Amino acid sequence: MEIKKVGVVGCGLMGSGIAQVAAMAGYEVVSFEVKEEFLDKGFARIEKSVRKLADKGKISADDATAALGRLQRTTERSGLVDCDLVVEAIVEDLDAKKELFAELGAACKPDTAFASNTSSFPIAEMAEASGRPERFVGLHFFNPVPLMKLVEIICHDGSAEDVVGAVRSFGEAVGKVPIMAKDTPGFVVNRLLVPLLLEAVRMIERGDATAEDCDTGLTLGCGHPMGPITLLDYVGLDTTLSIVEGWHSRFPDNALFEPPALLRTMVEEGKLGRKSGQGFYAWDGDRRQ
Ligand code: 3HC
Repeated sequence: MEIKKVGVVGCGLMGSGIAQVAAMAGYEVVSFEVKEEFLDKGFARIEKSVRKLADKGKISADDATAALGRLQRTTERSGLVDCDLVVEAIVEDLDAKKELFAELGAACKPDTAFASNTSSFPIAEMAEASGRPERFVGLHFFNPVPLMKLVEIICHDGSAEDVVGAVRSFGEAVGKVPIMAKDTPGFVVNRLLVPLLLEAVRMIERGDATAEDCDTGLTLGCGHPMGPITLLDYVGLDTTLSIVEGWHSRFPDNALFEPPALLRTMVEEGKLGRKSGQGFYAWDGDRRQ
């Protein structure tokens, strides 16, 4: 199978990043959102990031302009029907994802492959909903997509080898190092990372350590680029809560997957981290105050 045209559903932080790296790698890209205003916001983010990479000499000014020229936008699902690969990066809501893939499965050309950027949901369930499970894989990028070098490729029992191979080549072409993961909760990275983030929240809850001390501990003690609480703010408290709530509902006996009360309270209060300007820390755009 050959991938030339890529559709990306969702133009939030992850979707805009995926559309950006695909366009920078030379693919023709269609970005889908339900509202024009979401596309405006996502495309502004892409333009800023591409220009920044050009200003820093990581890509040439001509390549930046060419990449932006390869990006189309649409609010019509019909804009995706002739894509070779459609990558989904919408909200972490399993029913919404299954509904989307059922619609795409009915509408797209027969050989379109589907990939979900889900952080945590079972790939097999979405694959089944698409009506073409053999052409379905997980393709999990990391935030910020233009800078983070990893992508996880998640096969389920029915993923066809040529589809997995083509998606793996796509991951490499967009500049990432692929690792293969099984269809288990959190795949490889989030299975290790999320319990760490949650334990840092529990330490704050118990009064064992401050947010600053958790962060200084892991940046200076372990060389992490961001401490767990800064990273939680960066990724989004709501995103992390929805990941862990999904796991908790499926595996209620696993204490590692128990959502901390403090995390729930902060999300209820709208303290979502960087995206809302306030989480454990105050944020001014991408900068922690
Ligand atoms: N596009 C282009 N440039 C960007 C950018 C983007 N999206 N985001 C940041 N930059 C630029 C910054 O503007 C900055 O430019 P400057 O040097 O001109 O100021 C430069 O990149 C470096 O950024 P910072 O100064 O903020 O410094 P860092 O060296 O800390 O790099 C980082 C930023 C790469 C985000 C680094 O802090 C890091 O690796 N953090 C950890 C991130 C991480 O763990 N991500 C995974 C999260 S888990 C996940 O995504 C899974 C999901 O399912 C939950």
